Amino acid sequence: MAILTILQYPDPRLHRVAAPVDRFDEELQRLIRDMAETMYASNGIGLAATQVDVHRQLIVIDTSESRDQLRVFINPEIQDSRGESELEEGCLSVPGIYDRVPRFDWIRGRAWDAAGREYGFEAQGLEALCIQHEMDHLKGRVFVDYLSRLKQTRIVAKLRKQQRRAG
Ligand code: NI
Repeated sequence: MAILTILQYPDPRLHRVAAPVDRFDEELQRLIRDMAETMYASNGIGLAATQVDVHRQLIVIDTSESRDQLRVFINPEIQDSRGESELEEGCLSVPGIYDRVPRFDWIRGRAWDAAGREYGFEAQGLEALCIQHEMDHLKGRVFVDYLSRLKQTRIVAKLRKQQRRAG
């Protein structure tokens, strides 16, 4: 397994649109393992393939307290949604920034698992928020894209400063 490099906002590669996964081969299994390891090592609750510069429709999430409930969503689609989330969100590609953006509180949809089996899912609260956030990454959208220009400018300045400090 390997820890992958996570693209940092405002890297333009975060705006690439992911293509559907069509091969459930060994390479995909390795990518899923590496993405899970990278997410856990970064203390994240979700990671989209886009963030590790692989532009395929693949997401891993784990919103459990115990950090042992890995969920894999391949080619995910939302079919039904309702309510409004009140939660703030953050992103491993935008470290240290948290804000609220429009999200549904409940979603229902379908996806494929690592073995290529289609399944239905339903999620609420933090898990629903996380799935919507990661699905946005696959469309080339970062959560800060929903914020005002002023906030975006401040975020870019803050991240540049952090990146310079980190060398
Ligand atoms: Ni993110």
